[in-house]
Amino acid sequence: MKNKNKNEIIRKKILLVMLVIAISLLHYGIDRSHLHYHPFYSEFYYLPIVLAGLWFGLRGALTVSAAITICYLPYVFRHWQGGSPYDFDKLVSVGLYNGLAVLVGILRSREMAASERLLQARHLASVGRSLAAVAHDMKTPLVVIGGLTRRVWEKMAANDPAREKLALVIREATRMEEMTKDMLDFSRPLNLHRTYADINKTVRDSLALVADAAKKKQVRIVPELCEGLPDISFDAMRMVQVIVNLILNAVQASPAGGTVKVRTARAGESVVVEVIDSGCGIREDQRERIFDPFFTTKKEGTGLGLPIVRKIVDAHGWTMEILNNRDKGIVSRIMLTVDEEERPAGPAEAQPANRHEEAGQV
Ligand SMILES: Nc1ncnc2c1ncn2[C@@H]1O[C@H](COP(=O)(O)OP(=O)(O)OP(=O)(O)O)[C@@H](O)[C@H]1O
Ligand SMILES: [Mg+2]
Repeated sequence: MKNKNKNEIIRKKILLVMLVIAISLLHYGIDRSHLHYHPFYSEFYYLPIVLAGLWFGLRGALTVSAAITICYLPYVFRHWQGGSPYDFDKLVSVGLYNGLAVLVGILRSREMAASERLLQARHLASVGRSLAAVAHDMKTPLVVIGGLTRRVWEKMAANDPAREKLALVIREATRMEEMTKDMLDFSRPLNLHRTYADINKTVRDSLALVADAAKKKQVRIVPELCEGLPDISFDAMRMVQVIVNLILNAVQASPAGGTVKVRTARAGESVVVEVIDSGCGIREDQRERIFDPFFTTKKEGTGLGLPIVRKIVDAHGWTMEILNNRDKGIVSRIMLTVDEEERPAGPAEAQPANRHEEAGQV
């Protein structure tokens, strides 16, 4: 399938090159007695431009129009008639080739992006439906296994040799329960329960939840919370989920003894929440995939953390970025919109959030 597409692309490119060469040869092959055919031939140049735009979008159309300009301009100057209307007409044609390339290219590129988004949305919807079905069926047996095993474990004598093995069963059952919860979170529609609240409080609540994981990994979490931020309308429970996911990713990527900063700040019209680590960072070839459901580079990861984060952020109408830290590691940044109309109190203007070190968007 991939090879077929590749061959098709090559065929299309060859056809475009041949068309441009053939039309240029028509021009250069005209002897002076047949110059009146020229306007007719120059119209042919529109064909490869339109085809390139339709097949390859803006970049394709512009490449072809640039090639035509390079092929055609020497012809224009070779037959220059002292700036006559005929010369002017040829120069206008060159302008029109490039104008048409921009127009067709932009329209086609937009259409291609829209259909790509639609395809992706359909794909995600079908992944979501399958996930919901699997997770739903897995959830009840897992809760039963986990609950019963826990009860048996509690009643076991402290020196029972099977106690350790049962603890392992409980741990794995809990992990699977969490996985099914993530799968359901990802696949179900989100109903937000928004209230005006202090984002710093939500960050503090989240810090409490990740304290154990950070301690285990010997990573220090340093909050840098800007006081005096305006209250924001959001679903606090979901936002805890977002911050916990981002901090866990940062902690998991950090080496023992590392530090993860969690910052809040005012940045123009938005409030920004950032989780900054100096960990292993994200490989260039994996960047595009980190929001794909089930993409993970971790042995025990599910790959649903970031897709769920994005789903919650999108549902709030906010934006998020995953950026490279200048030296090392990742900056996960969420821009929360402040509702100016309903903001209860005037906020204190704080340091802009993007003071530090990111180098490029992931
Ligand atoms: N701060 C980070 N530093 C380095 N890599 C990261 C960071 N955040 C995310 N990633 C990369 O993105 C991938 C996807 O992250 P995501 O949170 O979706 O899944 P996960 O952490 O692997 O699993 P889980 O479902 O348990 O969260 C990770 O496996 C990791 O490769
Ligand atoms: Mg994760």
